[in-house]
Amino acid sequence: MNFKGNHLVSTEQFDRESLFLLFEEAEKMQKVLSEGGTDLLKHKVMATLFFEPSTRTRFSFETAMLRLGGKVITNADMLSTSSVTKLESLYDTGKTISQMADVIVMRHPEVGSVEELANGSDVPVLNAGEGAHRHPTQGLLDVYTIWKCFNGLDDLTIGLIGDLKNSRVQHSQIGLLKHFDCKFIFVAPEGLEMPEKVVEHLKDAGDKVTVTTNMEEVLPEMDVISMSRIQKERFADPEEYQRYRGAYVLDAKLMGSAKNDAIVIHPLPRVDEIAVEVDSDPRAKYFEQIRNGLAIRMALLKLILA
Ligand code: NCD
Repeated sequence: MNFKGNHLVSTEQFDRESLFLLFEEAEKMQKVLSEGGTDLLKHKVMATLFFEPSTRTRFSFETAMLRLGGKVITNADMLSTSSVTKLESLYDTGKTISQMADVIVMRHPEVGSVEELANGSDVPVLNAGEGAHRHPTQGLLDVYTIWKCFNGLDDLTIGLIGDLKNSRVQHSQIGLLKHFDCKFIFVAPEGLEMPEKVVEHLKDAGDKVTVTTNMEEVLPEMDVISMSRIQKERFADPEEYQRYRGAYVLDAKLMGSAKNDAIVIHPLPRVDEIAVEVDSDPRAKYFEQIRNGLAIRMALLKLILA
């Protein structure tokens, strides 16, 4: 990916080289963070437009901008309080906001929405989660966390557990990890499997892929245990969601069968898929990921804007 001045829409924009470049920049940002910040992006303004709920992602982007010395304007409830309620198009919204801000960060429930807004925008637009398939910056911070823990990304067995049909985070992880020599194990309940075309694409590229419903059986093989919650908001029928809730619960007993140097990642929020008792296990990295996410987003903002 060529960062400077460009939109970040999908993980498809990345290759090995651009990932490593970003990770090296993120390492420098960890140092900046430990010093409290910098004024590199002084006078730059970021607009965050969220059409879906968020706790971590919006605050992470906003904190990243503030730690780089920039400023933030925000609307966390675009769906009910923006001019979109007056039927303004996303194209016009993008054109408008880009007359005021130097970069736009957006989250939206519909696939294609980020491109639509980016088509109108005169400044870079960064995807902060779109529909059930794309969440590139979360994928980046997850893969950065794996890279830090294992000192690289090749020769790893990556286990993806949970709602593999609807987790845009796990789809984004695959979109980045496919550039490395990894083995994949997909664990999902029947009906929430990883889309067939993702599995086929990996197999065609020569990757080893195991698909199963049985977490206990395959957990001991995993270097990376990547969990996701059942994505409640993607179910039209609430009863269907209730049937899947609690399908997989990673607890201390199960962690007893995992490798000693395995890591557990999760984008959060969690519901019940990781027992709280696992938090004190040194292999649990899901709170460390939040700090890594800040460094990744600072690195992205610097590479795109500075
Ligand atoms: C994820 C998301 O919004 O897709 N959360 C996040 O960005 N940290 C994961 C989720 O909601 O399950």
